[in-house]
Amino acid sequence: MKIGILTSGGDAPGLNAVIRGIVYTGIATGKCEEFVGFRNGWKGVVDGDTVPLGRHEIKGIHKQGGTILGTSRTNPFDGIGGVDRINEVMREQGIDAIVAIGGEGTLAAAKRLTDAGINIVGVPKTVDNDLDATDYTFGFDTAVQIATDAMDRLRTTGDSHGRCMIAEVMGRHVGWIALHSGMAAGAHAILIPEQKTSVDQILEWVTSAHDRGRAPLVVVAEGFSLDTMDDAHSERGLDAFGRPRLGGIGELLAPIIEERTGIETRATTLGHIQRGGTPSAYDRVLATRLGMAALDAAIAGRWGHMVGLRGTDIITVPFADALGKLKTVPQERYDEARILFG
Ligand code: F6P
Repeated sequence: MKIGILTSGGDAPGLNAVIRGIVYTGIATGKCEEFVGFRNGWKGVVDGDTVPLGRHEIKGIHKQGGTILGTSRTNPFDGIGGVDRINEVMREQGIDAIVAIGGEGTLAAAKRLTDAGINIVGVPKTVDNDLDATDYTFGFDTAVQIATDAMDRLRTTGDSHGRCMIAEVMGRHVGWIALHSGMAAGAHAILIPEQKTSVDQILEWVTSAHDRGRAPLVVVAEGFSLDTMDDAHSERGLDAFGRPRLGGIGELLAPIIEERTGIETRATTLGHIQRGGTPSAYDRVLATRLGMAALDAAIAGRWGHMVGLRGTDIITVPFADALGKLKTVPQERYDEARILFG
């Protein structure tokens, strides 16, 4: 069997460990000896742009961030040939199956292609950790560690100046990174999309920390909205007053907090720093195990399935059961963290 591997969508630390897990397991066990990588996600598939993947190419890559294959947000159904073109490329290059490593969009395209008869196994990827069919996604642990380190640093400068420091972290739809990094760093307020919150409540948390002699530390997920912001405001990039938003939500909150409390406030957006650099040991191990399981699923012909983590076990789940379900932060997890706001 010859397997083609692609990485698609936003990158996440651990992508290279998945690639290595697939190829290494195939070669070391003799289950599959021929692999190619498609460059830049689905774009490489429709362009027939492949690179060989053997022992030499995967040597030591599990320690590297990013993806050696490159990535893109190209959708194979966006007028670039779809099923017919992919079948043609696979036939021309003698590729029997594809392992697609990506998030919701990638896996949705993979499902449509599988339904049309193409042999695909999926590996879920998102630093936001918002895919329901897996307990954790690789890249999340690394992002949380980076955000925690950043907040530890914000705290010392905040303490020195007696300022309120806001860290804006990733999380378009869910607040997992904010929740975990906020708990780890001891934030005085954790603001996440699942919990619309009033300005008054945020001011109360900030002033309470300040009154106890602390420099208030606030972590906010990029997708958070105030209770005065409706979904249209958030989606159209408008602020709480319906004005176009220039910065992110952290930049929006800083002047509100400063004006209303008199505490000097600074906001820092961590952005893509959270997705860069080397993966944590946990992410390397998880990504490697997912890669190994994806290889096994392909050898077993489990097309239309993705691998995932349940507890400490690696499982396979049909795309149909895995897609379209966002894994949000449960109320009890938020309530637990909230006890620590002080
Ligand atoms: O979905 C993962 C994510 O990191 C989000 O948290 C973030 O909003 C988005 O990707 C950023 O995407 P891009 O890299 O395309 O700017």
